[in-house]
Amino acid sequence: MMTDFQGLPGFRDFYPEDFVVRAHLTRIWRDVARRYGFEEYDGPPLEELELYTRKSGEEIVEQLYEFEDKGGRRVALRPEMTPTLARMVGARARALRKPIRWYSIPQLFRYERKQRGRLREHFQLNMDIIGVADVIADAELIAAAIDICRAAGLDASQIRARVSDRRVLAAILGHVGVPDDRLEAVYGVIDRLDRERRDRLEEKLAGLGLDADAIEAVLETTATRGIEELRARYGDVPAVAETIDELDRYLEHVDDLGVAEFVDIDLSVVRGLAYYTGIVFELWDARRELRAVCGGGRYDSLLDLVGGIDMPALGFGMGDVVLAELLADHGLLPDRQTGIDCFVAYIGPEGRRRALRVAQRLRRAGHSAVYDFRERRLGSQLKSADQLGARLAIILGPQEVEVGQARIRSMSSGDERVVALEDVVEALNEGDTKDE
Ligand code: HAM
Repeated sequence: MMTDFQGLPGFRDFYPEDFVVRAHLTRIWRDVARRYGFEEYDGPPLEELELYTRKSGEEIVEQLYEFEDKGGRRVALRPEMTPTLARMVGARARALRKPIRWYSIPQLFRYERKQRGRLREHFQLNMDIIGVADVIADAELIAAAIDICRAAGLDASQIRARVSDRRVLAAILGHVGVPDDRLEAVYGVIDRLDRERRDRLEEKLAGLGLDADAIEAVLETTATRGIEELRARYGDVPAVAETIDELDRYLEHVDDLGVAEFVDIDLSVVRGLAYYTGIVFELWDARRELRAVCGGGRYDSLLDLVGGIDMPALGFGMGDVVLAELLADHGLLPDRQTGIDCFVAYIGPEGRRRALRVAQRLRRAGHSAVYDFRERRLGSQLKSADQLGARLAIILGPQEVEVGQARIRSMSSGDERVVALEDVVEALNEGDTKDE
């Protein structure tokens, strides 16, 4: 009983009208990645489980599709691309030309709780730069992410980048007395700022051994917006001032790259993944009604952890789900584009033989052409031509067959002209068929 089957929850079917959206996004992704000089790569969708448990962060690990394969290996469907990238680069680190600028568009799998903008599979553009420690690379990446949004039609009133720096945060937290070995746990709490009540956050921080002053300082820090406010608060603490200077230099590059108007400094952003070490950022719809469109940052120790290679690295992931929602909200998604070049209509057995031959000649010349598989009345065939969005109908009726000709009709104007059968392709190529 085939009708009993449905797709799994959180997994999508891409009917042609849905695929149009996916193709639109991947086209923009590829185009911008190319403009920034990135090369495309891919890896396997299934990896050893430990690749993720080692450093991905709790949330993602809880969401893993994991199982034991028939050889007894613990494996998982990839929930993100970064560990695979680190593994691949680690394996060839010496041979690869640096800096590495790579991009990929993997389908990823996470067993998420059902919520808007979160599915159990999604496509995610990943752009990563490996081998550059300087913040100039951080600026380059955020510029690429923002340029993708611009290419999709969004402006600075519709999409915002929120930037923070884990080194700045670490310096401030160190200054207010948070021990180094608690930093990661504190980031975990900060990451939930938007999602949890203040008293609950305070409780969690207290549970990590922070005293009341430190808790107050942490929450105050995360409320910091803008580099001026940051300087006013912590500019006189030397260890923090150093990290602010770096962030300032980053902002200068961001300005030179022409995307400063999209960028806000926001110390409440830490990112959920455990491997980030420096500047981190997320892109959000300006109204903050949806989830993050994109997230990424610097992860300077991950390559060492999974690839045994000490190399600076940074990157971002941008998913198709939220981006498509945002573009839909602003009316920026393309319409379904059907449309073929030619519909070859025929009558009678001899007409059909010629139709097949003409269709093949058109296809070999690069035009799209279809014909009826089952002969119907000419009127019905022309109706199909219209429904398929055909630009031209090539008509092979009894009279045309008789004298070895074809009628070429513009579907938009109805204008017709008659050409010799062997000249059909030429007539189209010359573009002298008036079809507007
Ligand atoms: P992430 O923040 O987990 O980062 O995911 C990046 C983006 O992928 C999110 O902002 C969101 O648009 C999309 N996304 C994530 N999970 C889902 C889901 N369940 N359904 C729909 N969309 C989703 C990473 O994955 C990092 N590995 C990115 C990165 C690359 N960092 C450095 N390089």
